[in-house]
Amino acid sequence: MQSATTLDVLRNKVAKLRTGGQTIGLVPTMGALHDGHLTLIRRAREACDHVVASIFVNPTQFGPGEDLDAYPRQLEHDAAMLEGEGCALLWAPAVEEMYPGGPENFVTSISISDVSAGFCGASRPGHFDGVATVVCKLFNQVQPDMAFFGEKDFQQLAVIRAMARDLDLSLPHVRSIIGVPTVREADGLAMSSRNRYLSEEHRAAAATLPRAMKEAIARIEEGQETAPTLAALEDALLGAGFESVDYADLADAISLEPLDALKDAPARLLVAARIGNTRLIDNMAVG
Ligand code: PAJ
Repeated sequence: MQSATTLDVLRNKVAKLRTGGQTIGLVPTMGALHDGHLTLIRRAREACDHVVASIFVNPTQFGPGEDLDAYPRQLEHDAAMLEGEGCALLWAPAVEEMYPGGPENFVTSISISDVSAGFCGASRPGHFDGVATVVCKLFNQVQPDMAFFGEKDFQQLAVIRAMARDLDLSLPHVRSIIGVPTVREADGLAMSSRNRYLSEEHRAAAATLPRAMKEAIARIEEGQETAPTLAALEDALLGAGFESVDYADLADAISLEPLDALKDAPARLLVAARIGNTRLIDNMAVG
């Protein structure tokens, strides 16, 4: 596997990979890779001739008091995992390469309204501006034919699709942004780089999240009322040791508009909750 830490080297290496019209799939990550990330790499390998993975812990998507400094960094270990999956090129820029002069002197920001307003956008102000801006930069830097994102971050995927569509980003079509289903641990907990923050006790309790979500979905699909079902879901989480629930809502799966009840269109249950200072998110299809 090749690697690049400067934009000049990246562009040069990507141009060589493209020789003869070969296609490039991009998998953006912040590292601390797990099987969820590696599943994206595998999907990209199936769909494209070459895979470029990026590892960049993007400071502008972390709010004050969030875990930017504590975020796990293990570049060598991650590189070995990517190599094992047949990734062609690792793009791992330093903060100074991505934001010359520092993120505080960066004057451009991409802000997507509506779809980024609720859910994580409401509880993490500015988060999706940081995500959209860095993902737009990554698209311009690598100019991939396709890009792969996890459904684990369902709102992030919706925000990136809206941005690519609205700004005519270099990807040939909005369908070139591929959403990959969430990869889970054996007990159902969605894999996340943040799961490693959990103590043994909190890790065991965290499995209540997907279990309680499945129960709520079964009830909503049986026709029970949404509001009391979601209230019972929150109670189940608090009862299992979660400290607080940022949101537990039913939404239209495309627009992310909150729903009072299941309609004909595809819906999604989205939850964010905190346990032992760690914020976990999950989402599942309903109906
Ligand atoms: P990160 O949290 O490292 O996730 C990188 C990609 O892996 C995202 O598309 C995410 O949705 C996907 N992913 C994470 N856990 C997953 C799981 N259990 N199953 C399937 N996919 C999973 O998301 C980011 O980084 C950043 O916001 C980024 C897009 C790189 C911009 O900085």
